[in-house]
Amino acid sequence: MSNKSLARPHEETTILVTGGAGFIGSHTVVELLENGYNVVVVDDLSNSHAEALERVRAITNTAEGAARDRLVFHEENILDREAMQRIFAAHPIDAIIHFAGFKAVGESVQKPLEYYWNNIAGTLVLCEVAREHGCKNIVFSSSATVYGEPEFIPITEDCPKHEATNPYGQTKSMLERILSDLYIGDDEWNVVLLRYFNPIGAHASGTIGEDPEGIPNNLLPYVAQVAVGKLAEVGVFGDDYPTPDGTGVRDYIHVVDLARGHVAALDWMGGKRGSGEPRGLGSMAGRPAEDGTRRGVGIFNLGTGKGSSVLEVIRAFEAACGHPIPYAVKPRRAGDIAENYAACDKAREELGWQAEYDLARMCEDAWRWQSSNPNGYKGA
Ligand code: UD1
Repeated sequence: MSNKSLARPHEETTILVTGGAGFIGSHTVVELLENGYNVVVVDDLSNSHAEALERVRAITNTAEGAARDRLVFHEENILDREAMQRIFAAHPIDAIIHFAGFKAVGESVQKPLEYYWNNIAGTLVLCEVAREHGCKNIVFSSSATVYGEPEFIPITEDCPKHEATNPYGQTKSMLERILSDLYIGDDEWNVVLLRYFNPIGAHASGTIGEDPEGIPNNLLPYVAQVAVGKLAEVGVFGDDYPTPDGTGVRDYIHVVDLARGHVAALDWMGGKRGSGEPRGLGSMAGRPAEDGTRRGVGIFNLGTGKGSSVLEVIRAFEAACGHPIPYAVKPRRAGDIAENYAACDKAREELGWQAEYDLARMCEDAWRWQSSNPNGYKGA
């Protein structure tokens, strides 16, 4: 069976965003609406809030009169096949951006069954129902975690993948494999795997941002909660790494830049960007379809190409919030690597996309969100 065409204008295209109420999802929905798309969000709110979508509506309403009317929300779980069938029957979905999934590394070690079931089985249901409705276009939210301890830095897309050390990372790697196999089995599929580095920051309005449950696992939300006085001090996990100041180096990317990478990926899938020769991996390099759109598996790193250490992040956040942030050096965290950052040439050349915002701006925007929403969406 053929595939839905992404050759049409954005205004005539409907994107299903799974996990659209979450941190990266909500920022991506803003960019999709501002680029004229119709958006259907499926989110079970297990780790997100419907309020985020209300705020997305408010943001896009000021940017463009009717944008809010192009957003529909279904509170459903992607594992619920009947619900997914109803949603595909109700909307002319052309492509999927798939964010929905559990994402806490430590928790995944404790709850492997939940992680494999939700992330893997959820994606299988999603793809099966999509295929029944002739939709074989999918952008998947992958992670730099698939590179494990990287063989070289900056990390290019053809850097070998390494076995993940936890179930969360395994699900990202396995889903990359599964989605690639969909194309191998049926060359109508059009798949893009976006490997995110470390998304931080918030929308410039300060009305949507990252709102983790409980004590944050990741550096930025932790720093932000220390800055706002909710937590006492940042634990710096190791200062004896082979990096310039001894602390871990990561490629932090503004979530709005990351969100725009998804809009660029959809245009690339629709043949509206990039060279005539899609660059996937090996035999999956893909081919142009009759309508000018692509088929194949495109893999792109989304990062800035610049590494920042934990101490640099703390200093940038201090500059943004205007007061010192207490911290203490702690032992290394199990499973952490010393350094990673992306080679971004492929995304720049093919997607015509590159990150615009620097670390200072990421911290300013994160601070605006955190200081005006100290309790996240729950304070609303
Ligand atoms: C983590 C996950 C990764 C996941 C990504 C996005 C681990 C081992 N890796 O990446 O699989 O894809 O989040 O969710 O959890 N740090 C501190 N103090 C803290 C927290 C972090 O010093 O309280 C340091 C870390 O050692 C690291 C850096 O800050 O050097 C970034 O950590 P984090 O934000 O957790 O991201 P990653 O470990 O890169």
